[in-house]
Amino acid sequence: MSKKLFIETLGCAMNVRDSEHMIAQLNQKEPYELTDKIEDADLIIINTCSVREKPVAKLFSEIGVFNKQKKPTAKIGVAGCTASHLGEEIIKRAPSVDFVLGARNVSKITEVVDKKHAVEIDIDYDESTYAFGEYRTNPFKAMVNISIGCDKSCTFCIVPATRGDEISIPSRLIVGEITKAVLGGAKEVMLLGQNVNHYGRRFSDVNEEACDFTGLLQKISKIEGLERIRFTSPHPLHMDDAFLEEFASNPKICKQIHVPLQSGSTALLKAMKRGYSKEWFLNRCEKIRTLCPEATISTDIIVGFPGESDEDFEDTMDVLEKVRFDQVFSFKYSPRPHTEAATFENQVDEKIASQRLTRLQDRHMQMLSEMMDEQLGKEHWVYFDELKPNGRVAGRSDDGKLVFVKGSEELLGKIKKVRITHTSRAALDGELV
Ligand code: SAH
Ligand code: F3S
Repeated sequence: MSKKLFIETLGCAMNVRDSEHMIAQLNQKEPYELTDKIEDADLIIINTCSVREKPVAKLFSEIGVFNKQKKPTAKIGVAGCTASHLGEEIIKRAPSVDFVLGARNVSKITEVVDKKHAVEIDIDYDESTYAFGEYRTNPFKAMVNISIGCDKSCTFCIVPATRGDEISIPSRLIVGEITKAVLGGAKEVMLLGQNVNHYGRRFSDVNEEACDFTGLLQKISKIEGLERIRFTSPHPLHMDDAFLEEFASNPKICKQIHVPLQSGSTALLKAMKRGYSKEWFLNRCEKIRTLCPEATISTDIIVGFPGESDEDFEDTMDVLEKVRFDQVFSFKYSPRPHTEAATFENQVDEKIASQRLTRLQDRHMQMLSEMMDEQLGKEHWVYFDELKPNGRVAGRSDDGKLVFVKGSEELLGKIKKVRITHTSRAALDGELV
């Protein structure tokens, strides 16, 4: 009988892929069946995120709850960025944890799983050419890593301390992995990295053939049977013209792009060490709109970064008005260990940060309602990949909108034209044309 695995994945898309990698590695050793019941599990893995403080605080109470509910023989492992950053401290604070596995060490899951209190968190460990086993949650859409780590030093961000230096995965390995996924039924790929358009600046092998992100996109689009390419996240600083022209003109690249703003104030962007100004950001978004008017633009915004004045915040609101983002992921600044900004003295009052966040989110919701209303009667090519209750099937339009239609299994894995008949802020309903 196969063992049962409960795996909880928090945080970003890279963590989702890391969880798939862990499942694949475990299955190469012995068969595991996934379960969503703690009581049934033989192995419990929490794949953590440490980008903000809240999920870290939640981790320890969760370990306590899991420890009470689990079978006495079941093991608990903590993986991901919090594992990298707290290491052994996790076992000291929660001795019921059996092993700790860093975000850059997931290939070692089969080694730590049988070692009591193993801690594997080597930040310099190079998994960039590691051949992981095959496992995909969704056979229609493949997530594929193109780089590990991050070379930037944004002063608010803990990721360089948890995922280490940036190393690109050789393009032949990426193309090979995507080709395999396409043979397995995937028509779409999501390329993953902390800073995807910095691709190719460093490989583990110094003799690796040079290739930048634009070149990689060109290589990937030659894969027969692959119809859609997405990627996350690019950095506004590295959005050069060649990249934006490739984005706009390559028919396989989905017209949806994440352009993480963080702040609209040039002074704050400098304090964040983002490397671009408000003007550069607006200029890149204008370029996207000019080259590709149908593209949707999403962003990440932090409010209440140390030293943020009313004026700085108005600059952020100004960018919001000018760009009209289709999606905004907004966060209150959270001081993180190992980051420069945590040592800054001019921390913003919590109440003011909350007020700013509410104002930003309310304004974006208004804009989103208007933008989604405009979708009524429009037609989209939708790639269907998920069965939903009540005879509905869900998919994504080329520009990333969630679309539902009435239908059954036979729509899965197909790209069909849909006319929008009903809109809401979160999703669209439509009918096949
Ligand atoms: N390069 C990654 C960034 C990972 S962190 C990417 O582009 O996806 C994801 C987002 O979390 C960041 O863009 C930022 O908006 C937010 N974030 C990171 N550190 C933060 C902090 N200390 N406080 C609040 N939000 C933060
Ligand atoms: Fe973090 Fe900046 Fe890298 S947000 S992941 S340090 S690009």
